[in-house]
Amino acid sequence: MKKNIILIGFMGIGKGTTARAYAEKYNCFNIDTDDLIESKTNQKVKEIFEEKGEGHFRKLEQDCADWIESSVDNTFISCGGGFYNVENIKKLGTVVLLDASYDWIYNRLSTAENAKSKLKKRPLFSEPKKAKKLYKEREKAYKKIADVIIDVENKDMKNIIKEIHTGSYI
Ligand code: S3P
Repeated sequence: MKKNIILIGFMGIGKGTTARAYAEKYNCFNIDTDDLIESKTNQKVKEIFEEKGEGHFRKLEQDCADWIESSVDNTFISCGGGFYNVENIKKLGTVVLLDASYDWIYNRLSTAENAKSKLKKRPLFSEPKKAKKLYKEREKAYKKIADVIIDVENKDMKNIIKEIHTGSYI
């Protein structure tokens, strides 16, 4: 079993922020699947969606998962919101879900200092009604695939990363 932490959850819930805080506190490497895809393709996620479509992006996520399976261990990996769907997710490490209500996530994103750019870079968040529908569709699947579920609503980062550490190997 790999000792990676695979951090999943809905767009805007704070996976990247959590990953950076965790890596700093527990002194481990942290990578992000969207960043890996952007560096491999030299394109932004938004551009990939616009130019090649969502299906192509999902293939790139699967390539990324295959690379993690063959080459990455002892690493904290934050994942795009749809990454839970890759076929080998359970082989990549301990799957940790960040969980919160849709309204809390939307409020977190839309009141952030750089809210405009946070919303703009996420093609699937361009229409809040559609995003809410996607949240509802994914809610159960996220929980089913997760080894550990962390409720992050109104919890401070110190406690979130402590809980992740308790439930994982790195
Ligand atoms: C997506 C989430 C995004 C990014 C892409 C698709 C999704 O990542 O991978 O826009 O399907 O939920 P974040 O969860 O980091 O926003």
